Amino acid sequence: MAMKRAASSAVRSLLTAPTPNPSSSIFSRNLHASGGKKKIVGVFYKANEYAALNPNFVGCVEGALGIREWLEAQGHEYIVTDDKEGLDSELEKHIPDLHVLISTPFHPAYVTAERIKKAKNLELLLTAGIGSDHIDLNAAAAAGLTVAEVTGSNTVSVAEDELMRILILVRNFLPGYHQAITGEWNVAGIAHRAYDLEGKTIGTVGAGRIGKLLLQRLKPFNCNLLYHDRLKMEPELEKEIGAKFEEDLDAMLPKCDVIVINTPLTDKTRGLFDKNRIAKLKKGVLIVNNARGAIMDTQAVADACSSGHIAGYSGDVWFPQPAPKDHPWRYMPNHAMTPHISGTTIDAQLRYAAGVKDMLERHFKGEDFPEQNYIVKEGQLASQYR
Ligand SMILES: NC(=O)c1ccc[n+]([C@@H]2O[C@H](COP(=O)([O-])OP(=O)(O)OC[C@H]3O[C@@H](n4cnc5c(N)ncnc54)[C@H](O)[C@@H]3O)[C@@H](O)[C@H]2O)c1
Repeated sequence: MAMKRAASSAVRSLLTAPTPNPSSSIFSRNLHASGGKKKIVGVFYKANEYAALNPNFVGCVEGALGIREWLEAQGHEYIVTDDKEGLDSELEKHIPDLHVLISTPFHPAYVTAERIKKAKNLELLLTAGIGSDHIDLNAAAAAGLTVAEVTGSNTVSVAEDELMRILILVRNFLPGYHQAITGEWNVAGIAHRAYDLEGKTIGTVGAGRIGKLLLQRLKPFNCNLLYHDRLKMEPELEKEIGAKFEEDLDAMLPKCDVIVINTPLTDKTRGLFDKNRIAKLKKGVLIVNNARGAIMDTQAVADACSSGHIAGYSGDVWFPQPAPKDHPWRYMPNHAMTPHISGTTIDAQLRYAAGVKDMLERHFKGEDFPEQNYIVKEGQLASQYR
């Protein structure tokens, strides 16, 4: 394998010379074509008593993405576990000889530079879902590994969930629900800070696949829609969605009643919402973050929720995951947090399981993946991760 990596790296240096179309060249195919029986390890969350309740529940350890028979019939070895942390974990045991690692953002296998160094046979890292920040992408690129995810597999699932979270926060829904289950009846306790969504300014930081779907879904609510992104949309699409581009993030944020985060976690977005940036937001701002927990400074969010500067914070992403029992966001006031669930609806699971199977099939045949799935290809990170 060391030889194979050396070969990959030689191929990459060849590819740095201008070629007409490197991605379709024979070199990229060679990177995939290692043949033979593979050891594939999947890291997913365990479903226990829930596993048998739905035949389409494929995203868990027990469901194993529904690809066990298919893989084993071809002679491949398929190991599935939820035990991913530390040197004694099941995952760690298989690191030295696995060929393919499949993981999911809902129960991320953190693939550090140390693990990559130990994984002498590793060729391919697949994310069953979207968001591969649990992998040290620079280390993966340097080692000649391919990293790919099932782009688009759960964008609808997340956009719908964000819309729900916006409404939950704006209408101050959760205190009302708690009153219902604790036997209270105190309309004032809810009504003093419940609003209509209509007329409010909502800004999304990131308007890629999820951000655009969210904006489209918000349009009928008659809000003032803003977006900040590296890229401006085509004027026609912008007009159809009805959102205004804000090139300067710090000019957009103080205008927003509701901020939604829709960028990946990269070196540029890690800790983007720190104490200083949060201090410049409107007092009483609501924040929805289903992108990644580490885009926020954890303690700065908890402090701003305690002071009331942030009037409500909702999302399903934390750092690390699973969130420890003492994570400050579990205890801060005015939150509507959940475990990481928005992108793992049954519909989403079926889509990302099919996407993983498709990429494995292509990998075994030495074929390229759909271009938009690559996060690391031939030593290059996808543009938004650079
Ligand atoms: N909670 C969940 O279950 C779940 C599910 C899917 C995706 N996600 C997260 O949502 C993220 C976005 O998903 P997507 O499918 O919309 O991805 P996408 O690639 O289609 O869109 C990301 C957008 O962010 C923009 N962007 C990147 N870096 C930026 C920066 N520094 N400043 C401004 N804009 C920047 C990009 O230009 C792009 O338009 C994923 O990377 C993942 O972290 C979460």
